Amino acid sequence: MKITSIQLEKFRNYHSQNIRFGDGLNVLYGKNGAGKTNALESVYLLSLFTSPRTTKDKELVMFGAEKARIKATVEKKFGTHTVAMQIEANGKKKVAVDGLPVKRAAELIGVLGVVYFSPDEMRLVKETPAERRRFLDVGLSQQQKAYFSALSRYNKVLKQKNNLLKDNRYVHNADDMLSVWDAQLAEYGAALVFRRKRYVEQLNAAAAKYHAAISENKENLSLTYETPMRAADEAGLKEELYLKIVQSREKDKQLGFGTVGPHRDDIAICLNGTDARKFASQGQQRSIALAMKFGEVEMFSSESGETPVLLLDDVMSELDEVRQRQLVELTAGIQTILTCTEFRLNVNCRRILIEDGRAADGE
Ligand SMILES: Nc1ncnc2c1ncn2[C@@H]1O[C@H](COP(=O)(O)OP(=O)(O)O)[C@@H](O)[C@H]1O
Ligand SMILES: [Mg+2]
Repeated sequence: MKITSIQLEKFRNYHSQNIRFGDGLNVLYGKNGAGKTNALESVYLLSLFTSPRTTKDKELVMFGAEKARIKATVEKKFGTHTVAMQIEANGKKKVAVDGLPVKRAAELIGVLGVVYFSPDEMRLVKETPAERRRFLDVGLSQQQKAYFSALSRYNKVLKQKNNLLKDNRYVHNADDMLSVWDAQLAEYGAALVFRRKRYVEQLNAAAAKYHAAISENKENLSLTYETPMRAADEAGLKEELYLKIVQSREKDKQLGFGTVGPHRDDIAICLNGTDARKFASQGQQRSIALAMKFGEVEMFSSESGETPVLLLDDVMSELDEVRQRQLVELTAGIQTILTCTEFRLNVNCRRILIEDGRAADGE
C-alpha cells in the first residue's frame, strides 16, 4: 500500500499543510525542531490510533488551538481509502475511515499499515521485555483484528484484577471475583501466546535473512518466544494458563499483582549462541533491531498481501555512508518516509523540505 498524501491542520507545529508522497523513498529533511517527526507521528497515529512518543494526546493539538485534524489518503490493491482523525484540546480523539465515523480503534487498525523505526527502537534489544512485547503487540495487532481485541480485553481484565490485588481491604474474600477474571485472562491470554509463538517462529526466518545481509561478520541471529507455556494449541494453552494463574494466586495476593501470563513473556534474542539482550554491542543491537523491523515488514506483507509503509525517523545520522546506502537499498519495493537533517546520498527519491511546520518540494 502507499500513502499518496497527508493533510495536517493545527497538528503540533503545522497550521495547515498538505504533503504529497511518491511511491518509493520520500526524504523529509530540515533543521532540528522543524516538524519532521511530527509529520511521521501523524501517519503513525492514523495507523495505530496512538502516538509513538506520547500518551498525552492533548500535546498533539497546536498550542492554543481547539482541535487538530489529520488525514491520509491511502492507495491499496483494491481501492483508495481515507483515514482521518480529529483530536480535541482535551485529548479526545475521533476517527473516520472513508468519511464514516469509526467507534472502536479495532476498526481503524489495519487500514493503514506502518512499521516505525527510530533511534529509540534500538532499545528493542537491550531494554526491558516490555519493549519487545510492544514490538509483538504492534506488529500482530495490525495484522490480526482478533489479536488486537484479545489484547485490549486481556489488558482491561488484568488492570481490574491488579487493582483488586493491590487493595488490602478486599483481597482476602475476593476469590469468586478472581476466578471469573482468571478464566477470562486464560482465554484471552491463550490467544495472545498462541499467536505470538507462531509470529516469532515466522519472524525468526525473515529477521535472520535480513540480519545476514546487514551484519558484517555474518553472525547467526535466532529469535524465540520466551514463555513458560508449553501446550501446542490454543485450547491447551488456555487450560495450562488457567492452572498456572490459580496456582500463583496466593503469591499474587501478597505481591499485589498478577505474576503469570503473556504480560510477563519475552522474545529471546540469540546471536551466535549468546544472549544478545545482555551482550550485544551498540552496532550489533542496531543490526538486530533493523533486521527485526524489516522482518516485521515482511510478515505484514505475507499476511495481508499489502506492503506496509516504512517510517524511518532520524536513523541516518548514526550511520556511515556505506551503511546509509545499505539501509536505503533494503527499502527497495517499500514506500518509505525517512527523516533526516541532511540527505547526502545520490539515490532516486522524493525530497521534501520541512521548515517551521511547513513542507515544500526540496531539491
Ligand atoms: N502542540 C504543539 N503546538 C505547536 N508546536 C508544537 C507542538 N508540539 C510540538 N511542537 C513543536 O514541534 C517542534 C518539534 O517538531 P519535531 O517534528 O519533533 O522536529 P524534528 O524536525 O526535529 O523532528 C518543536 O519546535 C515544538 O515546539
Ligand atoms: Mg525528529
